[in-house]
Amino acid sequence: MKSNYMLSKQLAKRMIIVHPPEPRKDLLLTNPNEGVYIGKTRFLHTPVFWDPSKLINPHISIIGITGSGKSYTVKTFLTRASLIWNSNAIILDWVGEYDKWVRQAGGRVINLARERLNILDLVGLPKQSRIKQIISAFDVLADLKSFPQERDEIEDALENIYDMKRKPELSDLVKYLERKNRKKAARLLKRFTAEGSDFFAGKSSLDIKALTTSGLVCVDLHELPTEEMRSLAGLTLLQYIKELMRAEGMREDKKIRLFVVLDEAWKIAQDERSDVIAIVREGRKYNFSLIIATQNPTDMHKTIFSNIGTIFVLRTILKEYRDYVRSSIGYSDFVDSEISKFGVGDAAVNMIFSERQNKVMTFLLDKIDGEDPLFLYRIGGGKMDIEIEREQFIRMLYELGLNEGQIEIIRKEFEKKDGVVEGESIVEMLERFGYSKSSIISFLRQVGFEEKNLIRIFSLAKMRKATKGVVNVVVEG
Ligand SMILES: Nc1ncnc2c1ncn2[C@@H]1O[C@H](COP(=O)(O)OP(=O)(O)O)[C@@H](O)[C@H]1O
Ligand SMILES: [Mg+2]
Repeated sequence: MKSNYMLSKQLAKRMIIVHPPEPRKDLLLTNPNEGVYIGKTRFLHTPVFWDPSKLINPHISIIGITGSGKSYTVKTFLTRASLIWNSNAIILDWVGEYDKWVRQAGGRVINLARERLNILDLVGLPKQSRIKQIISAFDVLADLKSFPQERDEIEDALENIYDMKRKPELSDLVKYLERKNRKKAARLLKRFTAEGSDFFAGKSSLDIKALTTSGLVCVDLHELPTEEMRSLAGLTLLQYIKELMRAEGMREDKKIRLFVVLDEAWKIAQDERSDVIAIVREGRKYNFSLIIATQNPTDMHKTIFSNIGTIFVLRTILKEYRDYVRSSIGYSDFVDSEISKFGVGDAAVNMIFSERQNKVMTFLLDKIDGEDPLFLYRIGGGKMDIEIEREQFIRMLYELGLNEGQIEIIRKEFEKKDGVVEGESIVEMLERFGYSKSSIISFLRQVGFEEKNLIRIFSLAKMRKATKGVVNVVVEG
């Protein structure tokens, strides 16, 4: 009996040491009005709050494969941060995956493809330094490096044009070059003044300063015609933001003024000259926070990495990537192997607190504890559309007896159609899954449709089936 007791006591001791250390509770816990709740630690279940007043800097990086939950983490974080601090956020959205959420969260979406950014704007800089930036922008856009003579001519023209005009535009530059008979140089730039690719020509239509103080803003870059243009637009916006940041001056309090979010923006986080580096280096003084999410950490410049106080490592499979992260923040073999096995939303977190600690530690989070915004599905039924909360609808599908795969098919259909699916498509899918007309009718009734709408939905579904039949016959014939 006694030895048994000893054994379990020893065992209990062992149990304590088998789990990796977690930071002290007082570092992780914060008054919910002062920190953003993230989730609970895996072993001691301590709630984790992100509190910039306890951290060495307000920057955040999120790493993980596609689908691991990076964007979800960003959304959850920004939603809570804006509730606590009423903070502003500007998201540079490369792939157009934020616009729907930002609209739902009451924010603003700017489609950059419908705007103009005057590349010759001085952005508050002295002429000389801006000219350097513009030339390197043209290196990207027009491959100027391959035309050294024209490159010199353009630089020379820029010098002159700022003396001639207070707010010159690209077309002024082209005209100037033409006047001076620098035909080839003019031609290199002229195509960026032609309709359709004149995004950087003409007067800026955006008030960037206003954007940085407008709550939640998504700058959607994905409709710009080329990757170069997206990068360049991103870089130009960051130049503006950096200059605004410097002009605003420093702050005593630690309230974040602006979150700058770069999601999958590896192209511009890589470049030595990129202003991402300036923002990350100086942001702390000005209470500007950079949030940078990427699937490939090796694309993130080392300087950026070493200036980030909070790192979320979500599922990462490639050993090369894990090794890169590990060499920057350090963690045990155990954590390393867990990271490769993570499910969606699981995270290893590394926070550097401003209070000195013996050892910075990377701890495991049970899951990023997200808040899905209320998502509404709309089912079309002629005169009467039904709106139903997504989770509720999915619960009802489960109750009807659909399996995971079938539910996924319906979910995808809603996603594809931006949340609106016609009733007859639902009927069609359910019939395909083997449901009888009567069970579908009672399901749709439960969803909220009235009799006359049901009749209409079913006759449309029938018509569709009939026309499909005809098409099939024609194809086969
Ligand atoms: N912590 C989480 N809890 C619940 N669902 C999550 C979580 N993280 C991600 N998801 C879901 O997983 C899917 C992929 O997430 P997403 O953020 O788009 O991945 P990534 O940006 O890394 O490609 C989304 O449907 C998202 O809603
Ligand atoms: Mg994403």
